[in-house]
Amino acid sequence: MLFIGERLGTRTGPRVDIAVDPLEGTTLCAKDMPGSIAVMAMAQAGSLLNAPDVYMDKIAIGPGYAPGVVDLDMSAEDNVRALAKAKGVKPGEITVLVLDRPRHENIIAGVRRAGASVRLITDGDVAGVIFTAQTAQTGVDMYIGTGGAPEGVLAAGALRCVGGQMQGRLLLDTEAKRERALKMGIKDPTKKYDMRELASGDVIVCATGVTDGALLKGVRFGKDVIETETVIYRSVTGTVRRIQAEHREMSKF
Ligand code: FBP
Repeated sequence: MLFIGERLGTRTGPRVDIAVDPLEGTTLCAKDMPGSIAVMAMAQAGSLLNAPDVYMDKIAIGPGYAPGVVDLDMSAEDNVRALAKAKGVKPGEITVLVLDRPRHENIIAGVRRAGASVRLITDGDVAGVIFTAQTAQTGVDMYIGTGGAPEGVLAAGALRCVGGQMQGRLLLDTEAKRERALKMGIKDPTKKYDMRELASGDVIVCATGVTDGALLKGVRFGKDVIETETVIYRSVTGTVRRIQAEHREMSKF
């Protein structure tokens, strides 16, 4: 883990921002449940929102829609209806991914009232946001909910590379949190950030599977070889690369 604001490197190369979550889905990993990943984003210095470790309200959809079709300030119900209209389907054909938390009770009820399906996940909303850009494979049209702010920056970076829309708003609900955010350069505690404000510039995001999941295979421990699967997204070209790696302890050979 890097602490917020940690500086590293030789200080002779180009300056970059790094956002890292070495284990996104700690509980998933501890319980050997699907979807735990190691994830990192990198961009020119000043490109990634310097997010404090607080919650962020998030909404995300995949590519192919007019800008502003969904909005963090609209109810879940209205967002489902707007997205269904834009997609040319009935609300009943829309699936919304939500973190299974009591705080999302209203969102879940709103999505259901609109007639759409709710898919609940126990953890891992970085992948949850990315799933919206792979609707054909995942069946997920939209992500709505409150999760970690650093995860929101990572997810925005990945979504920028594959196309889609995302908005995020930091949940700075105490004076202490607002002060902490201010010290990190966040002057407006209620600001609604667009995907490009969360992660701008030339962004590279990579994620490696820790446990098996819909996005990536988890780490496989063989007798002499450890196998991993990594995906790398690049915003400038929209290229998505996958690396199947075999790792050997060379001292054994
Ligand atoms: P951790 O790996 O830090 O536990 O994060 C997992 C996660 O599910 C994130 O994907 C999500 O943004 C956040 O936790 C939600 O927070 P909480 O568990 O407090 O509701």
